[in-house]
Amino acid sequence: MTKPAKINIGIPEDKRAKIAEGLSRLLADSYTLYLMTHNFHWNVTGPMFNTLHAMFMTQYTEQWTALDQIAERIRALGFPAPGTYKEFVKLASIAEVEGQPKALEMVRHLVSAQEATARTARELFPLVEDANDQPTADLLTQRLDVHEKTAWMLRSLLED
Ligand SMILES: [Fe+2]
Repeated sequence: MTKPAKINIGIPEDKRAKIAEGLSRLLADSYTLYLMTHNFHWNVTGPMFNTLHAMFMTQYTEQWTALDQIAERIRALGFPAPGTYKEFVKLASIAEVEGQPKALEMVRHLVSAQEATARTARELFPLVEDANDQPTADLLTQRLDVHEKTAWMLRSLLED
């Protein structure tokens, strides 16, 4: 078997490893949020059914695309991307929701999960900037924009 080619993109291995570790936690949070949103799309009930069913679909569809971008950035940095439920549970900062919450309870869970995912992305920034890792900074910026905007939209549903 031939030896894998060394990675020489101008970011030392120890920094790439730390960024990949942070991105793995972001992937785990993003996957947990994705699944929660899809679950709520399936199971939402009540007078807001149409609005929430459609809104959740828009959200999980966007999140699904983002999972791939995060995982492939980890690969480009030279590390394996986590891809099992076991790993995601271990890495995620978001707890799974059991049972069937009422519609507005679902919205509350999603606000928390959106905010938690934003915090995980934001925590990574100093590391990424220190390593001059612009592609990861760009990805994090995009994810922060989406999660903060979506959290606002969901939060607005809870107001009078
Ligand atoms: Fe559907």
